[in-house]
Amino acid sequence: MIKGNYPLGLFKDRRTPFYFYDTTLLQQTIEEVKRQIADRPSWQVHYAVKANANPDILRIIADAGLGADCVSGGEVSAALAAGFRPESIVFAGVGKRDDEIQLGLDAGIGRFNVESTAEMMVISELALAAGRRAPVSIRVNPDVGAHTHANITTGLAENKFGIHHSVLPEAIALAQRLPGLDFRGLHFHIGSQILDMSDFVSLCNRINECTEKLELMGIRLQDINVGGGLGIDYEHPNHLPVADFRSYFDVFKRHLDCKCPVHFEPGRSIVAPCGTLISRVLYVKDGLHKQFAILDASMTELLRPALYHAWHRIENLSSDGPEEKYDVVGPVCESSDVFGKGVVLNRCSRGDFIALRSAGAYGESMASRYNCRPLPESLLL
Ligand code: LLP
Repeated sequence: MIKGNYPLGLFKDRRTPFYFYDTTLLQQTIEEVKRQIADRPSWQVHYAVKANANPDILRIIADAGLGADCVSGGEVSAALAAGFRPESIVFAGVGKRDDEIQLGLDAGIGRFNVESTAEMMVISELALAAGRRAPVSIRVNPDVGAHTHANITTGLAENKFGIHHSVLPEAIALAQRLPGLDFRGLHFHIGSQILDMSDFVSLCNRINECTEKLELMGIRLQDINVGGGLGIDYEHPNHLPVADFRSYFDVFKRHLDCKCPVHFEPGRSIVAPCGTLISRVLYVKDGLHKQFAILDASMTELLRPALYHAWHRIENLSSDGPEEKYDVVGPVCESSDVFGKGVVLNRCSRGDFIALRSAGAYGESMASRYNCRPLPESLLL
């Protein structure tokens, strides 16, 4: 079994579990993103902070010059603290509280992506009271499906996100009428972990329909934000560590008619591959028909398998023993606290280091304190 290359010597004296981040891979990934859009100077990439808000990770991404896509006041504050320029911050979310809107206004963020007419009215009022006009884009529900897990598709009419594309002209008319708003553009996002590029082609087709219609009505857009969603290869983290940004950006280069600046919000594809949850085997236990490798990591550090049956590659970093099958589980008192069933690992013994790969996105950021467990620490190298 080919395994990742990890500095086990550095892990020896650390308390597990913890997140290990390979910052060289993170830098390479960001460089690849920049390379793929170098021929489109007006395009902008806003990293989706929800994927990983570790302050050190955020600082690396901010220093590389990317913007930030936030979905809460807490994320806006984290982005500002990490050094993202306020005007490069976009703020989405179906339920922004007044104090969160106020925070965005005070900081002078680049864009509020609004998701309902009710929200537009509140932002307009708050902006007027502050003597400002809030820059807004309307999040459109494109009613475009994505071939991904049902819990992470967002662009269908049945989902709570955005304003349905069929009533877009009325929503824009309201945004243009409200005195506290400065209407700028449109925002879309169809889902996450998307590997079938034809889903993004469908998104482009829907965007083209919208922009054509709006053009006929004389409505000009300053820019279009197409959201995030590019998937990564969870199965082969060792041989394809950087996501396929070339194919992804090519879709938009080839299929979007609008010549206005395009904004992107990748999260997972930037940070997932560079992160690994490192844990230790606490016990190996024989069940009736199987054996369990009981780790010191659990669903409180990495919730994805329990929540979405998400698959992460698991490797025993400290053993070259014969391969055996294990149900790899955590210690939390929930039957769903399982990282994988029938996982083939080199023979496990107490104290072995176990790597849960591709955990840089939606791992640390979704950690919880259930069972009074501490939040995971991190090590960047
Ligand atoms: N923009 C918006 C408006 C979003 O809702 C999201 C993700 C992104 C951008 C970033 O998408 P990405 O490039 O990371 O696919 N916790 C789930 C994923 C939830 C994604 C939510 N929205 C998971 O662990 O798979």
